Amino acid sequence: MHICRSIEDCRAAVADLRNRGKSIGFVPTMGALHDGHLSLVRLAQTNATSCVASIFVNPTQFGNASDLDLYPRDEDRDLSLLDEAGVEIVFLPEADVIYPPGDETIVETTRLANMLHGKVRPGHFRGVTSVVNRLFNIVQPDVAVFGEKDYQQLMVIRQMVRDLHMPVRIVGGPTMREADGLAMSSRNQRLSPADRLAAVVLSRSLDAAAARAGDPGVSVDDIRDVIANTIATEPRARLRGLDTVAADTLDYLHGPINEPLAIMISVQFSDILLIDQRVIQP
Ligand code: PAF
Repeated sequence: MHICRSIEDCRAAVADLRNRGKSIGFVPTMGALHDGHLSLVRLAQTNATSCVASIFVNPTQFGNASDLDLYPRDEDRDLSLLDEAGVEIVFLPEADVIYPPGDETIVETTRLANMLHGKVRPGHFRGVTSVVNRLFNIVQPDVAVFGEKDYQQLMVIRQMVRDLHMPVRIVGGPTMREADGLAMSSRNQRLSPADRLAAVVLSRSLDAAAARAGDPGVSVDDIRDVIANTIATEPRARLRGLDTVAADTLDYLHGPINEPLAIMISVQFSDILLIDQRVIQP
Protein backbone atom coordinates (compact mmCIF):
# COMPACT_ATOMS: atom_id res chain seq x y z
CA MET A 1 0.00 0.00 0.00
CA HIS A 2 1.35 3.37 -1.03
CA ILE A 3 1.07 6.13 1.59
CA CYS A 4 1.28 9.66 0.26
CA ARG A 5 1.20 12.97 2.02
CA SER A 6 1.74 15.38 -0.88
CA ILE A 7 -0.54 16.11 -3.84
CA GLU A 8 2.28 15.36 -6.30
CA ASP A 9 2.94 11.95 -4.76
CA CYS A 10 -0.77 11.10 -4.71
CA ARG A 11 -1.25 12.14 -8.34
CA ALA A 12 1.80 10.10 -9.42
CA ALA A 13 0.56 7.00 -7.55
CA VAL A 14 -2.93 7.33 -9.07
CA ALA A 15 -1.40 7.82 -12.54
CA ASP A 16 0.58 4.61 -12.01
CA LEU A 17 -2.66 2.69 -11.26
CA ARG A 18 -4.30 4.18 -14.35
CA ASN A 19 -1.28 3.25 -16.51
CA ARG A 20 -1.81 -0.32 -15.32
CA GLY A 21 -5.37 -0.14 -16.66
CA LYS A 22 -7.09 0.23 -13.27
CA SER A 23 -10.17 2.29 -12.54
CA ILE A 24 -10.19 4.29 -9.31
CA GLY A 25 -12.71 3.85 -6.48
CA PHE A 26 -12.29 6.47 -3.75
CA VAL A 27 -13.26 6.40 -0.07
CA PRO A 28 -12.68 9.74 1.71
CA THR A 29 -12.53 9.39 5.52
CA MET A 30 -11.54 11.32 8.59
CA GLY A 31 -9.82 8.25 10.06
CA ALA A 32 -10.77 6.49 13.35
CA LEU A 33 -11.87 3.72 11.05
CA HIS A 34 -14.47 1.09 11.91
CA ASP A 35 -16.28 -1.67 10.04
CA GLY A 36 -18.57 0.91 8.44
CA HIS A 37 -15.59 2.46 6.63
CA LEU A 38 -14.30 -0.96 5.63
CA SER A 39 -17.69 -1.78 4.10
CA LEU A 40 -17.29 1.40 1.99
CA VAL A 41 -13.85 0.16 0.88
CA ARG A 42 -15.43 -3.17 -0.20
CA LEU A 43 -18.12 -1.26 -2.08
CA ALA A 44 -15.46 0.84 -3.85
CA GLN A 45 -13.65 -2.37 -4.77
CA THR A 46 -16.79 -3.84 -6.33
CA ASN A 47 -17.38 -0.64 -8.33
CA ALA A 48 -13.78 -0.11 -9.50
CA THR A 49 -10.64 -2.21 -9.97
CA SER A 50 -8.57 -0.34 -7.36
CA CYS A 51 -9.27 1.58 -4.17
CA VAL A 52 -7.78 4.86 -2.95
CA ALA A 53 -8.67 6.10 0.56
CA SER A 54 -7.93 9.42 2.22
CA ILE A 55 -7.58 10.21 5.90
CA PHE A 56 -8.02 13.89 6.64
CA VAL A 57 -9.72 15.42 9.68
CA ASN A 58 -11.14 18.39 7.84
CA PRO A 59 -11.03 21.51 10.01
CA THR A 60 -13.55 23.46 7.89
CA GLN A 61 -16.44 21.15 8.71
CA PHE A 62 -16.13 21.47 12.50
CA GLY A 63 -18.17 24.18 14.21
CA ASN A 64 -15.89 24.47 17.22
CA ALA A 65 -12.20 23.90 17.87
CA SER A 66 -12.73 21.52 20.80
CA ASP A 67 -14.79 19.09 18.67
CA LEU A 68 -11.92 19.13 16.13
CA ASP A 69 -9.29 18.59 18.86
CA LEU A 70 -11.26 15.76 20.46
CA TYR A 71 -11.82 13.93 17.17
CA PRO A 72 -10.25 10.45 17.64
CA ARG A 73 -7.02 9.84 15.69
CA ASP A 74 -5.09 6.57 15.34
CA GLU A 75 -3.05 6.68 12.14
CA ASP A 76 -1.13 3.40 12.63
CA ARG A 77 -4.28 1.38 13.30
CA ASP A 78 -6.12 3.04 10.38
CA LEU A 79 -3.26 2.30 7.99
CA SER A 80 -3.05 -1.35 8.94
CA LEU A 81 -6.84 -1.76 8.54
CA LEU A 82 -6.70 -0.18 5.07
CA ASP A 83 -3.70 -2.31 4.12
CA GLU A 84 -5.50 -5.51 5.20
CA ALA A 85 -8.58 -4.40 3.23
CA GLY A 86 -6.48 -4.25 0.03
CA VAL A 87 -6.45 -0.46 -0.45
CA GLU A 88 -3.73 0.49 -2.96
CA ILE A 89 -3.17 4.16 -2.03
CA VAL A 90 -3.82 6.18 1.13
CA PHE A 91 -3.67 9.95 0.90
CA LEU A 92 -2.85 11.52 4.28
CA PRO A 93 -2.40 15.25 3.79
CA GLU A 94 -1.71 17.90 6.44
CA ALA A 95 -4.20 20.78 6.60
CA ASP A 96 -1.90 23.20 4.73
CA VAL A 97 -1.64 20.76 1.82
CA ILE A 98 -5.41 20.84 1.32
CA TYR A 99 -5.81 24.50 2.31
CA PRO A 100 -2.50 26.22 1.42
CA PRO A 101 -1.85 29.73 2.78
CA GLY A 102 -4.05 32.20 0.93
CA ASP A 103 -6.71 29.57 0.12
CA GLU A 104 -10.08 31.34 -0.18
CA THR A 105 -12.39 29.27 -2.37
CA ILE A 106 -15.47 27.62 -0.89
CA VAL A 107 -17.92 25.24 -2.53
CA GLU A 108 -21.47 25.25 -1.23
CA THR A 109 -24.75 23.70 -2.22
CA THR A 110 -26.71 26.75 -1.16
CA ARG A 111 -30.12 25.15 -0.41
CA LEU A 112 -29.25 21.64 0.75
CA ALA A 113 -26.33 22.73 2.94
CA ASN A 114 -28.39 25.15 4.99
CA MET A 115 -31.44 23.09 5.84
CA LEU A 116 -32.02 20.30 8.39
CA HIS A 117 -28.69 19.34 10.07
CA GLY A 118 -27.13 22.30 8.26
CA LYS A 119 -29.22 24.63 10.46
CA VAL A 120 -27.97 22.93 13.62
CA ARG A 121 -24.36 22.96 12.35
CA PRO A 122 -23.94 26.15 10.28
CA GLY A 123 -21.07 25.89 7.80
CA HIS A 124 -20.66 22.13 8.25
CA PHE A 125 -21.77 21.02 4.77
CA ARG A 126 -19.93 23.92 3.15
CA GLY A 127 -16.79 22.50 4.78
CA VAL A 128 -17.64 19.01 3.51
CA THR A 129 -18.17 20.10 -0.11
CA SER A 130 -15.12 22.36 -0.02
CA VAL A 131 -12.89 19.48 1.05
CA VAL A 132 -14.50 16.76 -1.07
CA ASN A 133 -14.17 18.98 -4.15
CA ARG A 134 -10.44 19.43 -3.43
CA LEU A 135 -9.98 15.70 -2.79
CA PHE A 136 -11.79 14.82 -6.04
CA ASN A 137 -9.52 17.24 -7.93
CA ILE A 138 -6.45 15.57 -6.45
CA VAL A 139 -7.48 11.90 -6.73
CA GLN A 140 -9.73 12.20 -9.83
CA PRO A 141 -11.65 8.99 -9.05
CA ASP A 142 -14.11 7.23 -11.35
CA VAL A 143 -16.34 6.31 -8.40
CA ALA A 144 -16.54 7.68 -4.85
CA VAL A 145 -18.35 6.02 -1.97
CA PHE A 146 -20.10 7.71 0.98
CA GLY A 147 -22.15 6.22 3.82
CA GLU A 148 -25.93 6.51 3.76
CA LYS A 149 -25.92 7.17 7.52
CA ASP A 150 -24.92 10.77 6.74
CA TYR A 151 -27.89 10.98 4.43
CA GLN A 152 -27.85 14.75 3.99
CA GLN A 153 -24.09 14.66 3.29
CA LEU A 154 -24.67 12.06 0.56
CA MET A 155 -27.39 14.24 -1.00
CA VAL A 156 -25.20 17.36 -0.78
CA ILE A 157 -22.33 15.59 -2.54
CA ARG A 158 -24.58 14.21 -5.27
CA GLN A 159 -25.89 17.74 -5.84
CA MET A 160 -22.37 19.23 -6.02
CA VAL A 161 -21.27 16.57 -8.51
CA ARG A 162 -24.34 17.19 -10.66
CA ASP A 163 -24.11 21.00 -10.54
CA LEU A 164 -20.35 21.16 -11.22
CA HIS A 165 -20.41 18.45 -13.92
CA MET A 166 -17.81 16.40 -12.06
CA PRO A 167 -16.87 13.19 -13.88
CA VAL A 168 -17.31 10.92 -10.85
CA ARG A 169 -20.07 8.45 -9.98
CA ILE A 170 -21.30 8.64 -6.38
CA VAL A 171 -22.29 5.39 -4.66
CA GLY A 172 -24.08 5.29 -1.27
CA GLY A 173 -23.12 2.54 1.20
CA PRO A 174 -25.68 1.04 3.62
CA THR A 175 -25.28 1.89 7.31
CA MET A 176 -23.31 -0.71 9.28
CA ARG A 177 -24.57 -1.38 12.80
CA GLU A 178 -23.26 -2.78 16.06
CA ALA A 179 -24.93 -5.98 17.33
CA ASP A 180 -27.51 -3.96 19.33
CA GLY A 181 -28.41 -1.80 16.30
CA LEU A 182 -26.37 1.35 17.04
CA ALA A 183 -25.09 2.82 13.76
CA MET A 184 -21.29 2.59 13.60
CA SER A 185 -19.60 5.96 14.05
CA SER A 186 -16.19 7.21 15.14
CA ARG A 187 -18.05 9.25 17.77
CA ASN A 188 -19.33 6.09 19.52
CA GLN A 189 -15.93 5.56 21.16
CA ARG A 190 -16.35 8.87 23.01
CA LEU A 191 -19.62 7.76 24.68
CA SER A 192 -19.50 6.87 28.40
CA PRO A 193 -20.46 3.21 29.09
CA ALA A 194 -23.92 4.28 30.30
CA ASP A 195 -24.48 6.53 27.25
CA ARG A 196 -23.26 3.75 24.95
CA LEU A 197 -25.96 1.43 26.32
CA ALA A 198 -28.58 4.17 26.09
CA ALA A 199 -27.64 5.05 22.49
CA VAL A 200 -29.47 2.00 21.17
CA VAL A 201 -32.59 4.17 21.49
CA LEU A 202 -31.81 5.80 18.09
CA SER A 203 -32.15 2.59 16.09
CA ARG A 204 -34.99 1.42 18.37
CA SER A 205 -36.97 4.58 17.52
CA LEU A 206 -36.36 4.08 13.77
CA ASP A 207 -37.44 0.41 14.01
CA ALA A 208 -40.62 1.51 15.83
CA ALA A 209 -41.28 4.13 13.13
CA ALA A 210 -40.76 1.61 10.32
CA ALA A 211 -43.18 -0.80 12.04
CA ARG A 212 -45.78 1.95 12.50
CA ALA A 213 -45.41 2.98 8.83
CA GLY A 214 -46.98 -0.35 7.87
CA ASP A 215 -50.28 0.60 9.59
CA PRO A 216 -53.10 1.73 7.29
CA GLY A 217 -53.73 5.49 7.19
CA VAL A 218 -50.55 6.38 9.06
CA SER A 219 -49.33 9.96 8.62
CA VAL A 220 -45.93 11.65 8.78
CA ASP A 221 -46.98 13.24 12.10
CA ASP A 222 -47.73 9.78 13.52
CA ILE A 223 -44.19 8.71 12.56
CA ARG A 224 -42.75 11.81 14.24
CA ASP A 225 -44.71 11.01 17.42
CA VAL A 226 -43.37 7.44 17.46
CA ILE A 227 -39.78 8.71 17.19
CA ALA A 228 -40.19 11.46 19.80
CA ASN A 229 -42.00 9.15 22.24
CA THR A 230 -39.42 6.38 21.89
CA ILE A 231 -36.48 8.75 22.41
CA ALA A 232 -38.30 10.21 25.45
CA THR A 233 -38.25 6.78 27.14
CA GLU A 234 -34.45 7.11 27.48
CA PRO A 235 -33.58 9.70 30.14
CA ARG A 236 -29.94 10.05 29.00
CA ALA A 237 -31.01 10.99 25.45
CA ARG A 238 -31.93 14.49 24.24
CA LEU A 239 -33.63 14.66 20.85
CA ARG A 240 -31.88 17.50 18.99
CA GLY A 241 -33.23 17.04 15.48
CA LEU A 242 -36.10 15.12 13.89
CA ASP A 243 -36.60 15.71 10.18
CA THR A 244 -39.17 13.88 8.11
CA VAL A 245 -38.49 14.74 4.49
CA ALA A 246 -38.84 13.53 0.91
CA ALA A 247 -35.98 11.10 0.32
CA ASP A 248 -35.01 12.64 -3.04
CA THR A 249 -35.38 16.41 -2.39
CA LEU A 250 -35.19 16.66 1.43
CA ASP A 251 -38.33 18.86 1.34
CA TYR A 252 -40.52 18.48 4.43
CA LEU A 253 -43.43 16.04 4.07
CA HIS A 254 -46.79 16.18 5.85
CA GLY A 255 -49.96 14.09 5.84
CA PRO A 256 -50.18 10.56 4.43
CA ILE A 257 -46.97 8.85 3.28
CA ASN A 258 -47.23 8.80 -0.53
CA GLU A 259 -43.53 8.84 -1.45
CA PRO A 260 -40.24 7.58 0.06
CA LEU A 261 -39.85 9.27 3.44
CA ALA A 262 -36.40 9.91 4.93
CA ILE A 263 -36.39 10.14 8.71
CA MET A 264 -33.25 11.88 9.98
CA ILE A 265 -32.62 12.09 13.70
CA SER A 266 -29.89 13.61 15.86
CA VAL A 267 -29.76 12.75 19.53
CA GLN A 268 -27.42 14.10 22.17
CA PHE A 269 -25.80 12.09 24.98
CA SER A 270 -23.79 14.34 27.32
CA ASP A 271 -21.70 16.35 24.81
CA ILE A 272 -21.82 13.79 21.96
CA LEU A 273 -24.29 14.20 19.11
CA LEU A 274 -25.23 10.99 17.29
CA ILE A 275 -27.17 10.77 14.04
CA ASP A 276 -29.10 8.02 12.32
CA GLN A 277 -31.58 7.77 9.48
CA ARG A 278 -34.02 5.44 7.76
CA VAL A 279 -35.83 5.69 4.43
CA ILE A 280 -39.37 4.33 4.54
CA GLN A 281 -41.12 3.34 1.34
CA PRO A 282 -44.84 4.25 0.98
O1 PAF B 1 -18.01 11.58 6.20
C1 PAF B 1 -16.87 11.97 6.49
O2 PAF B 1 -16.09 11.27 7.13
C2 PAF B 1 -16.43 13.37 6.07
O3 PAF B 1 -17.48 14.26 6.12
C3 PAF B 1 -15.75 13.38 4.68
C4 PAF B 1 -16.73 12.97 3.59
C5 PAF B 1 -14.55 12.47 4.69
C6 PAF B 1 -15.28 14.80 4.35
O4 PAF B 1 -14.37 15.27 5.29
